[in-house]
Order: sequence, then structure tokens, then C-alpha cells
Amino acid sequence: MERIRNPKFSKPVFTCGEGVRFATPEIVASYRAGRLKTGVLADISCGIGGQTVCFAEECDRVYGVDIDGERLECARRNAGVYGVDNITFIEGDALSPQVVEQVADADIIFSDPARPATEDVRQTDSLRPGIPKVLEAYGDVTKSFAFEAPPQMPPERIDFDCEREYLSLDGQLNRLTLYFGPLKGCERSAVVLKEDMYYRLKSGVAALAGIPEADKLLTFAFEPDPAVVKAGLLGELAAELNINVSFVEIDARRSLLTSESNIDSPFCKNRYRVLDRVTFDCKSINDSLKKNGAGKAVIRFNVEPDRYWDIRNRIEEGLTGKGTVHLFQINDIIYLLEQLK
Ligand SMILES: C[S@@+](CC[C@H](N)C(=O)[O-])C[C@H]1O[C@@H](n2cnc3c(N)ncnc32)[C@H](O)[C@@H]1O
Repeated sequence: MERIRNPKFSKPVFTCGEGVRFATPEIVASYRAGRLKTGVLADISCGIGGQTVCFAEECDRVYGVDIDGERLECARRNAGVYGVDNITFIEGDALSPQVVEQVADADIIFSDPARPATEDVRQTDSLRPGIPKVLEAYGDVTKSFAFEAPPQMPPERIDFDCEREYLSLDGQLNRLTLYFGPLKGCERSAVVLKEDMYYRLKSGVAALAGIPEADKLLTFAFEPDPAVVKAGLLGELAAELNINVSFVEIDARRSLLTSESNIDSPFCKNRYRVLDRVTFDCKSINDSLKKNGAGKAVIRFNVEPDRYWDIRNRIEEGLTGKGTVHLFQINDIIYLLEQLK
């Protein structure tokens, strides 16, 4: 066991093995603890306690259970680090009747299970403890469950009646939490965590059939937050923005929203103004970059790795300006975009 500083935590924490690597970052843990605030909560796979200490700050009493005694000892010490004294620690298998009995007064069961190191496609029953087994073991204790699941898990593999909450941190998809029973607030939701604030978008708020698709960019373009995309909430986002906006699928990894109006929304991680559109040849792109005072181009389209530097050098040849211009490709057209603050 050692005590280390880690960017996930505001204080140096106790950890062992890969404990800190799998721990929940404090900002995410605080958000989730706020959402799950209750009388008695049991965190039945608590690891080094990254999430448990935040539950303890919000709930009257908390149980911290883990099958690994050394990790549990780290969690006990981390409770001291965070100055909370309302956690009862239990070493044992969360699926054993002995553990279930000891936490039988819990209002909410939470689990952030261990994931197999390698797995082609993530499955809910290969998590440890597995979600179906937890639902069965604690079925007489409560109907209120929350689970962390791998955020990349395909939605069709989540075969439960629950809310799927995709959360992003600093513009990157970070967590998927499943909420069951009375904790379920909607089918899908997206949470964007930014500078100690959170923004939540829910499915079904707007009765939108969908968002119109387009194959070209208008005056402004916006990169939707990955949590919104993963949760399938682009229609809800369009309704929330309250302007005419279309969706442009650029390729399997990239999509943009586009509009004649500028918007400022926490659910869009980057905003751009379209400077120009040219056919896809290096000379035309280079000419347009010069005309627009660019000093640097950021290639945001797919290029074969062995051709990347050749294309980049030709595109950037002789640029003397100051600005950075982002290049997106839609069909045979290259769009030159200036990022807005
Ligand atoms: C991803 S870690 C939890 C990390 C935790 N949220 C944190 O912030 O530190 C998963 C934990 O599940 C524990 N675990 C796996 N199977 C278990 C079981 N059957 N009963 C209790 N704990 C289990 C592992 O020992 C591991 O510490």
C-alpha cells in the first residue's frame, strides 16, 4: 500500500496494485453522490473508496464492501483522508448471503464492478460482480440500484429496464451509469461535467422525431459532446438549442451540427465558423488557407498514415498567417473552419 497524489483526487490517496487506476475520479464521484443522496447506501464493490467517500459526504450512512482486503484497507484510510466517519467497511463477496444480510437496511445498492482485462465486446454479465447476479441477490433488499458499466458497451447489450446515463469529462466520454427502479428518471441521459458544473440532458423531453440530416455545412458548425452522441440525444439537443440545426455525419468517428445561427451550449464541445469550402486538392486548400490568414492547418479527415506528412506539408506550404484552421471533409468538399472561443 502507498499514498500518492493523482490528478483524479484533490487529496493524496491510499492505493495498492491498480486500485487508483480503476478508481472513480472525485468530480464524477461527487456528481453521482449528489444524484444518489439517500439515508443508507451500500457500495458493494468499493475498491479503494474513490466513490464511497463521496457517498459518505451526501448520505446518512454508507456500507463499503470489497472482496479484496487490501483495497478495502485503502478505502478505510481514504475515508480518514476525506474526514468521513459514517462508512461501515465489510470484506467479502458481495454476492454471498452473509454480505447481503449485513447491508439489508440499504435504500440503494451501488456497484462499480471489476471488468475483465480483455474482452472483444463488453458484456454486462462478465463484470465482477455481474449485474444480473447483483439484481437477484439484493432483490429483497431494494428496487433502487445503480451500476457503473463500460461506456463503450453497445447499448443493445444493456438488456435491462434502466436509465443509461452517459457522462463526459473535459469533452471525453468518461462514464456510463445505469439507474434502476425508482432511480430511473428517463430512458437515456447525457451529463457534461465542466469546471465544477454539470449539465444534464434527458431523452423524451422534446417530442422530436429526429434531427434533419444534411450533407453540407452552413455558416456555423458545432461538435456535439460525445455523451450526447452516445446517448442518442441529438434530437433533444436540437430542441433545447431552439434554432434550426441539422446533423452532418462526416464519418464513423465524426459528426457535426450545423446552422445559420451561432449558439453557445455546454452540450457542444467545440464551435466553428465556416471560412471557405474548396474541392479536395492540396493546391486549392493551400490557396484558401493563405487567403484566410492561416498559419497552421488541423486535418480532421481520414488520411492514410503513410501519406499524412506529404499531404500536410503540401497543404501548409508557405503559410505565414497566425490563425489555426480546421479542415473537415464532406463528400468531395473540404471545409475550412475557424474555431470560436
Ligand atoms: C472498478 S473497482 C471499484 C473502484 C471504486 N469505484 C473506486 O472508486 O475505487 C471494482 C472492485 O470490485 C471488487 N470486486 C470484484 N468482485 C467482487 C465481489 N464479488 N464482491 C465484492 N467486490 C468485488 C474488486 O476487488 C474491485 O476492487
